[in-house]
Amino acid sequence: MSSYLFETVDSIIARDPAARSRLEVITCYPGLHAIWIHRVSHWLWNANLKWPARFLSHLSRIINGIEIHPGAKIGKRVFIDHGLGVVIGETSVIGNDCTIYQGVTLGGTSLYKGVKRHPTLGQGVVVSAGAKVLGGFTIGDFARIGSNAVVLKEVPANATAVGIPARIVRAELPSHATDAAKERFSAYGITPEADDPVSLAIKSLIDLTLELENKVKSLEQQVRTNTEDCADSTDHAREITQLKNWLKD
Ligand SMILES: CC(C)(COP(=O)(O)OP(=O)(O)OC[C@H]1O[C@@H](n2cnc3c(N)ncnc32)[C@H](O)[C@@H]1OP(=O)(O)O)[C@@H](O)C(=O)NCCC(=O)NCCS
Repeated sequence: MSSYLFETVDSIIARDPAARSRLEVITCYPGLHAIWIHRVSHWLWNANLKWPARFLSHLSRIINGIEIHPGAKIGKRVFIDHGLGVVIGETSVIGNDCTIYQGVTLGGTSLYKGVKRHPTLGQGVVVSAGAKVLGGFTIGDFARIGSNAVVLKEVPANATAVGIPARIVRAELPSHATDAAKERFSAYGITPEADDPVSLAIKSLIDLTLELENKVKSLEQQVRTNTEDCADSTDHAREITQLKNWLKD
């Protein structure tokens, strides 16, 4: 229990430059209090004490301004910074070491009961202030969501997604990426998985340039072969003329 408290508090100090002491974190961080109360309400929820679980989470919302449904699964060292206006839906799953800022919604778009309606955050995900992540998809490990983004589809691990609807502006290459993809990544700063329109336009221009380069190379090869053929036939014609002249003599 005490090691859980120490590591949670220390992880907050590591992530918040404004945190000056452990006492300050323990007494003045509503995100920490909301998660502590959520641990109890989640336990009640799993023990099938649904109303007490909901009521406790409602009290926490009044005190902390953070609404976490008791059904949500929250990992270790999750840090809700400032926290006011955060809403975390029933079927959300939040991995270890995630950071969530004020005004974030982990919400659903479907009205069906009993299905996964809310997102799953992998480990170490950062969801910036005001971002909305809507739907039952996954945000990959260590991905970053920009402030006020509206995320409507999966974000791969290590990627940065920004805007409305969110687009990926920075994506780490997967380990299985081909050498050509890696070369293009380092040479042009273009990531094959990014869906930023400017990146995509530059990527298609690069692809077109490579295609044209290959066509020019094959045309040059053909011209060279034809020239050699012509040179061969000229040599033959000269030899025949010499032979004819020799026979006439
Ligand atoms: C989201 C975040 C983690 C992304 O970090 P990152 O992966 O290092 O990415 P960058 O900050 O370099 O931004 C990458 C690109 O997205 C753009 N971008 C970043 N946030 C954006 C946003 N909210 N909306 C639109 N574009 C954004 C940047 O301008 C940059 O564009 P460029 O490559 O054309 O210059 C970072 O912006 C952040 O710290 N967010 C937390 C902010 C927050 O909520 N603070 C509250 C404290 S109280």
